[in-house]
Amino acid sequence: MKRKILFVCLGNICRSPAAEAVMKKQIEERGLSANFEIDSAGILSVHQGEKADSRMRQHAARRGYEATSISRQVKIDDFDRFDLIIGMDDSNIDDLNDCALTAEHKSKIRQMTEYSKKYNYTHIPDPYYGGTAGFELVLDLLEDACTGLLESFYK
Ligand code: 4NP
Repeated sequence: MKRKILFVCLGNICRSPAAEAVMKKQIEERGLSANFEIDSAGILSVHQGEKADSRMRQHAARRGYEATSISRQVKIDDFDRFDLIIGMDDSNIDDLNDCALTAEHKSKIRQMTEYSKKYNYTHIPDPYYGGTAGFELVLDLLEDACTGLLESFYK
């Protein structure tokens, strides 16, 4: 049975495409690709159809990640299709809870930093309006939390 995980941020062009790329690489490196389905989506539709933000693609590529996803908005079907729906900050979590129709849907919602191992952040900060340090911080936090997330399935 495949574990199906959807990463969600506001625009689906910075944080959640990076989470998708980092998680896919960690899964591949451990030879576990057959066990997982990984996708990402955004709360907003304004960037629908766009590649990930070029700054995020560049920062990710320097660490060996290919952020290839195309932005799309979260849809109600996602709450049936995925086992876990993981938001990047409190506002994403509030918006996901507003979309969820049932208690089962709501039970699938998590916050990315719940899986952090070495960092103590309460959320993954939005890098969109900031500089390069913000993109590097996002990748640091996501690498750590994706490791924790992957480990959570094999405890
Ligand atoms: P993301 O970053 O949620 O990490 O993809 C953002 C991208 C775009 C916008 C906000 C955040 N925006 O307002 O267009």
